[in-house]
Amino acid sequence: MYNISLITGDGIGPELSESVVTVLNTINDKLDLKFSIKELQAGDIALKNTGKALPDETLDAIKSSDVCLKAPVGESAADVIVVLRRMLDLYANIRPAKSYPHMPALHDDIDMVIVRENTEDLYTGKEFAVDGAGVALRIISEDASKRIAKYAFETSKQRGQKNKVTCVHKSNVMRLTDGIFSKACKEVAQDYPGISFEEMYVDACAMNLIRQPQSFDVIVTTNLFGDILSDESSQVVGGLGMAPAANIGDKFALFEPVHGAAFDIAGKQIANPSSFILSVKMMLDWLSQKHNDAKCSEVASKLESTVHDVVKSGIKTKDIGGDKTTKEFTNEIVSRLV
Ligand code: NAI
Repeated sequence: MYNISLITGDGIGPELSESVVTVLNTINDKLDLKFSIKELQAGDIALKNTGKALPDETLDAIKSSDVCLKAPVGESAADVIVVLRRMLDLYANIRPAKSYPHMPALHDDIDMVIVRENTEDLYTGKEFAVDGAGVALRIISEDASKRIAKYAFETSKQRGQKNKVTCVHKSNVMRLTDGIFSKACKEVAQDYPGISFEEMYVDACAMNLIRQPQSFDVIVTTNLFGDILSDESSQVVGGLGMAPAANIGDKFALFEPVHGAAFDIAGKQIANPSSFILSVKMMLDWLSQKHNDAKCSEVASKLESTVHDVVKSGIKTKDIGGDKTTKEFTNEIVSRLV
């Protein structure tokens, strides 16, 4: 039995959470993998109700769970997810971009992963007002850079596909900070002779993600660049509605869609729950590795192939060219999970 803490979120968060609870309950009943789910508040709704975007009881419940699922939150995202990533030392943000059938996509043959450093860079929130100007600290350390580089090489090795890591930075302009990042990646590359290594400036990478995304296997990059490039890579394969993510540390992990609370479509039952369902797939893979539990890995593969088969049969939400509601799409997934 795995104890899952679930932040139900803002905007489309509650609709997506309902979908994921339905999927987990189905796995629980039909596939003999047991979960206990504790629903928690964080984000704009928690701020309104309790005065805190990340209430203490939510944090305590997350810490005492085996793993956390987080639906998107709204304007208070920095006080929730950025804080959780740092507090729980979830240093690796993993954002796969994978082609699914019949997507309104630029390409249909992509399978790559962005490994984003999750604890440093401009996202530490160290900003000051100085003489009428805003100043933000960009912190890039050798230790954190090496740690994420190692994670990226291990990811490429495990995938066993193109065996390639692309280190993305802008060291021609940010010579010290990105110089440290680039040097750390180069040093770690020496320990992985079977994996080819290349470096690319972030602007060229943004272009190549459109021009020839098939050439990538694993991209490793700093926090801000990774945030932006992963929205781009998910659009290249069909959109944010298909984009899951993992935040992984040595002891704990949190899984969430790449996208935000999408207030423009909230409450309309048109959000695509695949992003969150595929985050559950990533969670199951992580649980499988952590607890050496083959059943988790088996169910993870089944869940992913079910999403694949459902969209292949033309059952899709509006964002990817279909007409199904969030609930109808979810029901189709669970009806095939046997
Ligand atoms: P967004 O990612 O919420 O939405 C961008 C566009 O993608 C919108 O048109 C939206 O309708 C669409 N979209 C997103 N997810 C979708 C899904 N599952 N199905 C169908 N369409 C989907 O970005 P935006 O509008 O910039 O941010 C909205 C709020 O989300 C903000 O308050 C922001 O702070 C927050 N946010 C939270 C994040 C988190 O919790 N990790 C991450 C990013 C933003």
